[in-house]
Amino acid sequence: MADPRLKEQIRELGPWFHNLDIGGVATAPDHFLGDYPAFKWEGFRHVLPDDLNGASVLDIGCNAGFYSLEMKRRGAGRVVALEPDPHYLRQARFVAERTGTEIEFRQMTVYDVGQLGERFDLVIFMGVLYHLRHPLLALDLIHDHVADDLMLFQTMQRGPDSVAPVAEDYDFDKVGHFDAPDYPKMHFVEHRYAGDPTNWWVPNAACTQAMLRSAGFDILETPEPEVHLCRRAGRSASDRLSVSTR
Ligand SMILES: C[S@@+](CC[C@H](N)C(=O)[O-])C[C@H]1O[C@@H](n2cnc3c(N)ncnc32)[C@H](O)[C@@H]1O
Repeated sequence: MADPRLKEQIRELGPWFHNLDIGGVATAPDHFLGDYPAFKWEGFRHVLPDDLNGASVLDIGCNAGFYSLEMKRRGAGRVVALEPDPHYLRQARFVAERTGTEIEFRQMTVYDVGQLGERFDLVIFMGVLYHLRHPLLALDLIHDHVADDLMLFQTMQRGPDSVAPVAEDYDFDKVGHFDAPDYPKMHFVEHRYAGDPTNWWVPNAACTQAMLRSAGFDILETPEPEVHLCRRAGRSASDRLSVSTR
């Protein structure tokens, strides 16, 4: 029998986006996506090492902390979790305390990652990109300031999962490729999508992959169309800014 006081605390901390089992109480048993994010995690958990062997982890947009907890379970060392929303941060702190998990929390947005002043072996950047007004800036900042090696990444996508090869250049009078459904494209949401005014940009699969490459991430594995395991590499795209003459 779950402790009624615990049930009440969890209710008071709601609504929850992460369904977590805390002392036998589910935080979001009626989640519109089902047992979220546990059922999603099942589809790509194999791309990360079973034993993180003390690796440092940065979880950006941690929400109630599902991925931070999973990384700790896999033997991560230091886990730093960022969340700008005080409501979700309260939930994450509560969950960490109740489960006896050592996680360092910061109320911070992805745009401020430079303030952390350190790099992490693994960056988790799941489900945040499409909530940003400046998604490419966020990827650039992660690359330049906090990513050291791996990044587990997810974004909502719309459009085909197929990805056409992108040429190095296209003649000015050739425009057909812009209409190809698998050419990189991102939809701008001026008002709201699915009732959520924080959904700003929805890329197709080709756009997601092109943005990751452009920001300096090699895609190592794509266990499902919206999820990529990336490795930080060099970035040449930023150099373009200083040499562009048009
Ligand atoms: C769809 S949830 C994803 C939560 C979790 N990462 C996951 O994959 O289940 C989006 C999260 O990103 C956070 N978020 C929104 N804007 C952010 C920003 N500028 N920087 C960091 N996190 C942000 C939200 O508060 C929310 O917790």
